[in-house]
Amino acid sequence: MIAYPTRMPTPPLLTITDYEALARERLERGAFDYFAGGAGDERTLAMNTRAFDRFALRPRVLVDVSRVDTSTTVLGQSLPMPILMAPTALQRLAHPEGERATARAAAAAGTVFVVSTVASTSIEETAAATTGPLWFQLYVYKDPAITRDMVVRAEAAGCRALVLTVDTPLLGQRERDARHGFALPPGIEPANFAAMHHLVAARAASQGESPFAAQVQQLFDPSLDWKRLEWLKSITRLPILLKGILTPEDARLAVQAGVAGIIVSNHGGRQLDGAEATILALPRVVDAVAGAIPVMMDGGIRRGVHVLTALALGAQAVFIGRPYLWGLATGGESGVKAVLDLLRAELELAMALAGKPNIASIDRSLVSEAPA
Ligand SMILES: Cc1cc2nc3c(=O)[nH]c(=O)nc-3n(C[C@H](O)[C@H](O)[C@H](O)COP(=O)(O)O)c2cc1C
Repeated sequence: MIAYPTRMPTPPLLTITDYEALARERLERGAFDYFAGGAGDERTLAMNTRAFDRFALRPRVLVDVSRVDTSTTVLGQSLPMPILMAPTALQRLAHPEGERATARAAAAAGTVFVVSTVASTSIEETAAATTGPLWFQLYVYKDPAITRDMVVRAEAAGCRALVLTVDTPLLGQRERDARHGFALPPGIEPANFAAMHHLVAARAASQGESPFAAQVQQLFDPSLDWKRLEWLKSITRLPILLKGILTPEDARLAVQAGVAGIIVSNHGGRQLDGAEATILALPRVVDAVAGAIPVMMDGGIRRGVHVLTALALGAQAVFIGRPYLWGLATGGESGVKAVLDLLRAELELAMALAGKPNIASIDRSLVSEAPA
């Protein structure tokens, strides 16, 4: 490991990969691996980014790109760019300010931050730290009182949408965490559950499981099915998006279920190892939905050209997870903002070079399948 003396300037942070390398040096091994890792052999984690190489771009020329406009509208909300922030748990492991710093950076960039259920700052505290748009990521729990409580609190805190994560009936096998016996350090906890300690008593980790996974696992309800979505819809006024759809079959069911949108996601490769890369699943889901509801995606986005490719394949917007965690770990709020600015600048340049002056001009004719 290279240890940079504290007074030496850090190497230039030109890419998301540079932020990741610096985060690897700065973070404790257990925390870095919790953020960076995926499930099983991490095939899906690797494929998410690598699969972008399957698509080549077909730039058009002699288009006036003296002004490039990345602004768009998502769920009726105008945003300066089609890059939103995916829910990620336990951000105080990356920086003492955790979710508050992320929320402030999102607001400064004018984009949406989806707050995780498993955040290390309560939804109320995060909402108090920002005036920017927040959505709330929800799991459904064995105890319906917990789910209802989370929904009520998210609404009261001003969240504008619920993102129901549907790829996590059980936690994926995250072997880096199991090897480290990853447990939360003192002072860091899933803060939204703090008021419910009686419901969330720790149980002992079983073989091959980290203590943190054991704690979360006991709450999730693996019997959740399409029928129960009706119940969820009945207890909230907020639009509900489903995060974790990968197939056209489920996309059609989601449309029938009357949800407000779909996020094509494999949880950043942290759930079913071997699940398809999201950029490959995306166009099939988009075709199945046929414009009935917005389709967004996340997974593996590390470059502006990745955002451009996803938009060309029909995503209305994309979410990033690890990239902003690397910004948070290396520079707190300003690190997150720098990462958002970097991706936006890369997207702007890519749009200009592709002859696409605005989001509406991006369509499938921009991509062709590259030879494998
Ligand atoms: C450290 C970490 C924690 C995460 N926590 C959650 C979570 O609490 N809820 C959830 O729905 N997704 C969670 N995710 C998945 C992200 O929302 C998102 O799907 C994924 O990070 C996108 O892939 P990317 O990291 O390659 O951008 C987490 C991802 C990471 C890396």
